[in-house]
Amino acid sequence: MRVVALLLCGLAVAQASQIKTEWEAWKEEYGRNYLDDNEESYRQSVFEGNLNFINLHNADFENNLVTFTVGMNQFGDMTTEEIQSYMLGFKQDPSSSTDNRPVPVFTADKHEKLPTEIDWRTKAPGAVTPVKDQAQCGSCWAFSATGSLEGQHFLKTNKTVSLSEQNLVDCSMKEGDHGCFGGLMDNAFRYIKINNGIDTEASYPYKAKNGNCTFKPDNVGATVTGFVDIKSGSEKALEKAVATVGPISVAIDASQPTFHFYKKGVYHDTKCSSVHLDHGVLAVGYGVDTSTSSTWDNGKGKKYWLVKNSWNAKWGDEGYIKMARNAGNACGIATSASYPLV
Ligand SMILES: *[C@@H]1O[C@H](CO)[C@@H](O)[C@H](O)[C@H]1NC(C)=O
Ligand SMILES: *[C@@H]1O[C@H](CO)[C@@H](O)[C@H](O)[C@H]1NC(C)=O
Repeated sequence: MRVVALLLCGLAVAQASQIKTEWEAWKEEYGRNYLDDNEESYRQSVFEGNLNFINLHNADFENNLVTFTVGMNQFGDMTTEEIQSYMLGFKQDPSSSTDNRPVPVFTADKHEKLPTEIDWRTKAPGAVTPVKDQAQCGSCWAFSATGSLEGQHFLKTNKTVSLSEQNLVDCSMKEGDHGCFGGLMDNAFRYIKINNGIDTEASYPYKAKNGNCTFKPDNVGATVTGFVDIKSGSEKALEKAVATVGPISVAIDASQPTFHFYKKGVYHDTKCSSVHLDHGVLAVGYGVDTSTSSTWDNGKGKKYWLVKNSWNAKWGDEGYIKMARNAGNACGIATSASYPLV
């Protein structure tokens, strides 16, 4: 009895000091300083909870129970609720819509033959800009909108122009957006059309907070003539759009901790909703991961959407995430997708 008790105790001490070491290393890496000891000990307890979640999930991965890994990142000392309230921002607000004109809808035939995989980063180098960082501001919708417009602009002009999210954050209120408090990609496209353009990133840099509109016509980097919605819920139509049009703006449910700490593999969480969308991102391709058989689609490899996020390149798989494709519109990726016309 005594030996067992001592061993257990020794183990517990070892774990506590290991967690302390990981906490110190994490604070150093992400430059965190806290007001006082109370704040720090609370943040350390949040970190430990997240670390525990990560270790349990990755043990499930080792046992082939899940198809992706998670890992520690910049959200280490944040609760799920904090991440949801600071880092997302796709917000449906029908009351603010001032424009009910019908929008063209992009459809696909069920039997249409499409490439088995596509990645716009390599298919048209320059069509996809480097991964950006929305920071603690619910402006995902602006990053999603600039992403698909950067792609369309490049495919039309052969010029890579990084576009200004801050321009959208500051100036598209009239179209129904709320800056760091959320918005919609389609409202951003409406604004760019009405405004006769959007400024370049270089001329109107990102500040991660709401500000006064300082759009300057001389600094316009791209224009749009309208936008197209992908048939809601149709992964086939989204596939055709990604294959034939270019990178497409998509909205997803990114509320789960598995998403916040995603690292590698094909993301599939059955808790993900297809209707409660809270995050705007960019589909830049799709493919099939054949490293192991899938738990969906008859074990023929894991089909995925290749998605560019706006949580900086340290997050996820170099800023990207592979999300389950043809798994019943998982996370609602085909529910509210669209792209601008240039
Ligand atoms: C596009 O631009 C690249 C580099 O500027 C150039 O090498 C290529 O020939 C251009 N392609 C077209 C179709 O203009
Ligand atoms: C916006 O403009 C108003 C009026 O000129 C000014 O009072 C305010 O400080 C400005 N806000 C920012 C964030 O610059």
